[in-house]
Amino acid sequence: MSRYLRSEELLERARKTIPLGSQTFSKSITQFPKGVSPYFAARARGSRLWDIDGNEYTDFVNALAAITLGYADPDVNAAVAAELGNGTVYSLSHPLEAEVAEMICALVPSAEMVRFGKNGSDATAGAIRVARAFTGRDHVLTCGYHGWQDWYIGATTRNKGVPAATSALTHSIPYNDLPALDAKLVELDGQIAALILEPMNVAAPAPGYLAELKARLHKAGALLIFDEMITGFRFAPGGAQELFGVTPDLTTLGKGIANGFPLSAVCGRRDVMMEMEEVFFSFTMGGETMSLAAAKATLGKLMREPVTATMRSRGMALMQRISDLIGRHRVGSFLAMAGDPTWSFLLFKDADGVSGLEIKTLWMQELMQRGFLSLGTHNMSYAHSEDDVDRLADAYGQIFPILREAVANRAVKQFLRCEPLQPLFKVRG
Ligand SMILES: Cc1ncc(COP(=O)(O)O)c(C=O)c1O
Repeated sequence: MSRYLRSEELLERARKTIPLGSQTFSKSITQFPKGVSPYFAARARGSRLWDIDGNEYTDFVNALAAITLGYADPDVNAAVAAELGNGTVYSLSHPLEAEVAEMICALVPSAEMVRFGKNGSDATAGAIRVARAFTGRDHVLTCGYHGWQDWYIGATTRNKGVPAATSALTHSIPYNDLPALDAKLVELDGQIAALILEPMNVAAPAPGYLAELKARLHKAGALLIFDEMITGFRFAPGGAQELFGVTPDLTTLGKGIANGFPLSAVCGRRDVMMEMEEVFFSFTMGGETMSLAAAKATLGKLMREPVTATMRSRGMALMQRISDLIGRHRVGSFLAMAGDPTWSFLLFKDADGVSGLEIKTLWMQELMQRGFLSLGTHNMSYAHSEDDVDRLADAYGQIFPILREAVANRAVKQFLRCEPLQPLFKVRG
């Protein structure tokens, strides 16, 4: 009997009323191979998640990096429970809005003013609208992933339903490639409002790259926006901009801001942010207090305790161990480590006539079987212990020889108990 039986039955039921059976692309059947994956969580605590079949996992997805302190953090839960007694959303604004805005201004170097949204896509869409209003220009450059809305997704391969006229205003440029930026600045001379980029995902910024981006954009009259949805409150308390020492004009934040409660933010330079007094950026649930109470508790803990430093040192130990295992098991022709220790990537390359996605599917099958969750990244949380890291490395020590044998014999499909993942949509690396 499948160890994922209940998940599979519920998936079948859910797909009758929910397209893809999930609210989130990265939690759906497009990302989790059918037959060897759980689909539904029952509960989670600290670094652990239990699926509806009762299987326990050490979770390195962490709700797509939304969980930074660990699931069901007691301080966050207590703050939310205390606020819940008062209400959740009101007919007037609430003092928590200013309190959390002040905390963000204290933590994030670029933040002089802040507005809140719920999902990250609210924040990125808001930042782009503000940049367009401030500069009076329509075109935008992107680098990385920035959410589901028309202005961004229209310029990717997943653009069904987006008007061509909207897609035509957005242009993706490669990371660490200043000549590519220069070429776009020339091609769209005087028309670019901003570049929005993830300050880092797979590759580290080349020396001087981020500072040079800012200088060249400013010379061209355009703004620099850091999309720190994942790097914020993770790379350092003040995000990648603190770690790399480059302050953008605007920053978009989400995920780790409230340890899994729905809150996102646009923040940045006062003169640019003041556009928001006229630019329409307004939500019924904009000042909802559960998420703001969660953010206050999360950011307070981030200020008091070595949250990001701990994630970094555990993540560094993990990267080192995985790199050693890649060498020891001679799988470097198709596996590589990259990224930041707090958000590291295991990269799968094509090898010997075997596709990287097939190898990744086999890796996921073996990993989930052993009680770990990952989609190819290690999204560290403060709750991951040294033991969690050791046990994941031990699991890789068992899985890598299986991958090597499967690749060497061109037999990955024979090792799979499912269909391989399909190449659908890739925006990073
Ligand atoms: C860098 C980045 N920007 C924006 C988003 C969009 O955030 P959301 O899915 O909360 O709308 C994401 C989500 O993964 C992200 O990683």
